[in-house]
Amino acid sequence: MDELELEDIALALVAPSKGILAADESTGTIKKRFDSINTASTEESRRDYRELLFSAKGIGDYISGVILYDETLRQNAKDGRSLVSLMKDQGIIPGIKVDMGTKPLAFAEGELITEGLDGLRDRLTEYHKLGARFAKWRAVISIGDGKPSEYCINTNAHALARYAALCQEAGLVPIVEPEVLMDGDHDIDECYAVTETTLKAVFDELYKQRVVLEQMLLKPNMVISGKDCPEQADVEEVATKTIYCFQQTVPAAVPGIVFLSGGQSERQATEHLNAMNQMGNHPWEISYSFGRALQASALQAWQGKAENAEAAQAAFLHRAKLTSAARDGEYSSDME
Ligand code: 13P
Repeated sequence: MDELELEDIALALVAPSKGILAADESTGTIKKRFDSINTASTEESRRDYRELLFSAKGIGDYISGVILYDETLRQNAKDGRSLVSLMKDQGIIPGIKVDMGTKPLAFAEGELITEGLDGLRDRLTEYHKLGARFAKWRAVISIGDGKPSEYCINTNAHALARYAALCQEAGLVPIVEPEVLMDGDHDIDECYAVTETTLKAVFDELYKQRVVLEQMLLKPNMVISGKDCPEQADVEEVATKTIYCFQQTVPAAVPGIVFLSGGQSERQATEHLNAMNQMGNHPWEISYSFGRALQASALQAWQGKAENAEAAQAAFLHRAKLTSAARDGEYSSDME
């Protein structure tokens, strides 16, 4: 794995039948997930949970890479081996979240900027030494009450491109993630317009900052109705509008688009991904980098108890298998 060029790593991450598991929840976010199953978030419980995911037998058939949080990249399994080596044994490429989260954007009420550029070059060098071969940086764009501002889109796009260039310099494939949130009552066409504007700004900055498109992956939201919109677009409309939006904005040189699930249910995210892949050949691979839509069932089955680890692994494998089928356009609801 180590001798692969960046182009090869990017292609391996979007290989047929495979996609990415986002398991890079920050300490604050994983606490929220664990709260939902009444489980204390400790260094050990976080390790136990992630260990069961990465060691699920056969998961490498569906998962090409896992995005890790800093703590996890440094953790060892119960038997003393590193979690990274556990993943590598299953043919999985380790990745790392390198942004430092979001902060309020100055002079832009209710809007966020992602931090983490200071010292990033040195951190990337260390992450590469620890075995990471790709990275993630998430920018957040909200819709509603006059948002997003052009200022918010452009400052986040600029930071995404600075991050991506540094990653490629350090030998890591950057996953560029501009997430337009599904929070709000806006309709699908508003999501389309904001996603299109955002992606145009992001690719403009990537071009200006000399990022090599063949050596990156895009991790966007799907074009979808706001969570509280009274009229929810159906699967076909989501798939058609999402693909059309990317045709307008994402150069064909980008090897793959790996979606975030963004608060969609496991089933919804799977159906949307499947419909897009059923539309036929696209210039880019259409795959997944799901967090919640790959982990929700596993988390429920686990409940923080060691005796449920096997059931949690079975739930995770099942979900990963269905998501993988959707990535190939071969999912049907009777597989649920
Ligand atoms: P979700 O699929 O739960 O949105 O998580 C993906 C992710 O990595 C968000 O940054």
